[in-house]
Formats: sequence, C-alpha cells, structure tokens
Amino acid sequence: MSAIQIQGMRPLFGTVEIQGSKNAVLPLMAAAVLAPGVTVIRHVPAIEDVITMMKILEALGCPCSLGDGTLTIDAKDPDGIGIPEKYVGKMRSSCLLLGPLLSRMGEAVTYFPGGCVIGARPIDFHIHALEQMGAVFFEAGGMILAGTGGLKGSEIRFPYPSVGATENALMAAVLAEGTTVLDNCAAEPEIAELCRFLTKMGAKIHGTGEKRLVIEGVKELTPTEFFLTGDRICAGTYLAAACAAGGEVTVRGVDPWVLKEPLRVMRQMGAAITTREETQEILLTMERRPAGFRVCTGPYPEFPTDLQSVFLAVASAAEGRSRITETVFEARFAAAAVMQRFGARIRAEGRTLFVEGRYPLKPSIADAPDLRGGAALLVAAMAADGRSMIGNCEHIARGYEDIVRDLVSLGAEAEWIRI
Ligand code: EPZ
Repeated sequence: MSAIQIQGMRPLFGTVEIQGSKNAVLPLMAAAVLAPGVTVIRHVPAIEDVITMMKILEALGCPCSLGDGTLTIDAKDPDGIGIPEKYVGKMRSSCLLLGPLLSRMGEAVTYFPGGCVIGARPIDFHIHALEQMGAVFFEAGGMILAGTGGLKGSEIRFPYPSVGATENALMAAVLAEGTTVLDNCAAEPEIAELCRFLTKMGAKIHGTGEKRLVIEGVKELTPTEFFLTGDRICAGTYLAAACAAGGEVTVRGVDPWVLKEPLRVMRQMGAAITTREETQEILLTMERRPAGFRVCTGPYPEFPTDLQSVFLAVASAAEGRSRITETVFEARFAAAAVMQRFGARIRAEGRTLFVEGRYPLKPSIADAPDLRGGAALLVAAMAADGRSMIGNCEHIARGYEDIVRDLVSLGAEAEWIRI
C-alpha cells in the first residue's frame, strides 16, 4: 500500500509540465485495434489504467510496449475476443473495446463493469448504440457476449451525452457499411482527440468537437503515429491546489480553452489567471484565501465532474459559503465524507453539497476513497496547519503519473511513504 505525507500551509511556486491525458489515451488504445499494423502514441502517461489497458490488448493478441512516454500497439493479427474479467473489474474503460472488437473481429466477450464509489455506471447506452448498428448481445451470469455479421451505419441519438458510449459508437462507425449519425453525443475534448486520431488513420468524420457527429464508413484504416494531448484534469487539479495553498504557478501542456469553466470559477474565487494558447500555458496567482463559490457539474463544456471533489477541497478552506452540485454521477460524494476529518464543514442535500469554509483546516490521516477523491484529500491537506498522511494512494496512481513529483516541482513539501 502506498501513502503520501504532505505538509500543509506551504504556498506553491513554479511550473509543472502536464502529463498526457488518461481519458484521451484509453479510447485511443482501444481504437488501435481497428488498424492492422503498429500504432505509436507519444506523450503517454505511465499510469495504472494505461498498464491495465496494455494487458487487455495483449490478451487480445496485440503486443504492446511503453517506454519514455512512447506506446506501441501491434494490432497486425489480433487473435482474441475476450476481455479478461479481472481487468474489467479493475477498469470500467475496458468496455471501450466492444466497438473495435465488433468492428475488427465481429465478436466480443466481456463482463458487466461493476459500479464503483461514484455510481452504478451501467453500459446500456453503449449496448443500445451498437445494437442499432447491427450487433447482437447476449447476457449470461454477468458475462456479455456480442456478435455481428457486419456493422452498418445508423442514426443514433443518445439519451444522455455519455463519453464512453459516444467513443464506442464512434469506433464502431468508422469501418461500418454506410453513414452513421451520432446525435446528442458527448463533446468532451477527449472525443475530439479520438476523432483526430481516427481521422489520421483514414476515417471520415464530420463535426469534430460538436454534439452531432457524421461518420462515413471506410473500407480500412491504417495505423498512425500520434502525439497525445495534455491531461486537463491533472492541470485543473494543480491549479486548484494553488488556489487552496496560495502562490504563483504555471501549468504547461494543456490548451487553456478546455478548462474554460474551471478557470472562470477560479477567477470567481479571486485567482489572477493569464492564459497563453500559443505555448499552452496557464499562469495562476493566488494572493489571498479563496472566496466562496458555486459549481454545478455537467457534460462538457459545463464544469467537469472529475474536478468536483478537488474544488470541494478548495471550498472547504475558502472564505464563507460555497455550493457544489453534482449532476453527472449519482454518488460522487465519497470525498466529502472523508474531508470532514480535516475539519471541513460540509452538508449534503440530495446532489448538492453546502460548504462553510474554515481556514486553516486540521491535519489528518485519511484514505483515498477513489482516484479524484484521493487528489482532493491532498489539496485539503495543503490547506491544513500541519502534516497529513493520505493512504490508499493506489487510487491516485490510476490517473496521475506521479502526483508527488508534480506537487514537489511546485514547491510542496510532500513525499511517498511505501508501507
Ligand atoms: C468518462 O467516464 C470518464 N472516464 C470519467 O472520468 C468522467 O467522469 C466521465 O466520462 C464523465 O465526464 C474515461 O474517459 C475513461 P459517461 P464514462 O458515460 O464514459 C451514465 C476519471 O476520474 N451512463 O459520460 O464512464 C453514467 O452512469 C473518470 O477520470 C449510463 O447510464 O462516463 C453517468 O451517470 C471517472 N449508461 C453518466 O451517464 C451508459 O451506458 C455519464 O457517464 C453510460 C453512462
């Protein structure tokens, strides 16, 4: 088990280079199955979820290697259609292989991804979209068997702009016979990144970045080399840490545009922010205790749910009252319960948290409840007057390549404790 020890009340100063995006690279890895040959993706973070996806691809007969941020995936001759159950339980994104496997192999076997601390997280939207394209699904004891005689273009309207369902349908459509229209689809930056990647492989996609995508099926795709975009949630995490701890930080490697709503909220707290699109830099100065603020999460371009618990940590130390509403997941408040160990004053009413800020917070010993909740506890600890210890940091390693390295590069007093 790994833990992080961190000293609070240390303002942050410095620059941090942002790692490649976890939520962009996972669908790209699945999409590599669509092209016979070797795909190369650069700027890939060495995180647990990437390692897990590599193991799944290898179980499907696609050898992978990762070194110095360069990931190669050899999808010349995939010979498997089954996603090992142990990986499905570990990572929900394994379901992103459904579309590529049905497209390339004509069949797929997986399992219902368990829910997790943030909610039930079903995959009904994925299944319905793929059924509309000619796939047939059977369920038996938690196992999902899918098959098709050939995917066909279809008009699909999502009941909710689901990121994963949009990605699965997109990957199923690029080699399908005919044209597919995806309506009310997710428009997160990670979807646009997948569109760019597939287009580089030879796909014909119209509407990149919009909530309506039109895909003309092509006969084949060719492997490509691709440089992965920066992780907007990591960037938002470190900027929020500076709001809680104070100081002057620069995050480099993410287009400021994709963080438009979080930056608006941070300005509302009193942060001075300068953005430089051309060098992909965001400079933030926080010279005072953050003022209370309001956040309501939602599909992009609304406030990202993945930054909800991190901003809750800032609200816990902010001046006055804050209000945070979570509309994307039905149970993404696990961090709030743990944050009260730091003296945070949080009251939950339905999907809304009402926070009465206090400063400083109290140092504490607490376990990370999940990936983003773990990062949030670190941010809370940075506003506490003493030394804190966060356990269960395996959760954090799923999405942050080395959160201690990044925070220390900004002047934080933090260290890994291997227990
Ligand atoms: C992606 O998850 C991200 N993961 C999540 O990031 C992120 O929080 C989420 O999108 C929302 O932005 C990756 O990209 C790997 P959804 P995904 O399908 O695709 C419901 C992180 O911390 N739903 O957009 O699973 C679902 O239960 C992770 O990096 C259905 O009901 O999210 C949720 O309430 C956490 N049926 C809502 O839609 C379905 O078939 C949004 O889910 C699919 C989803």
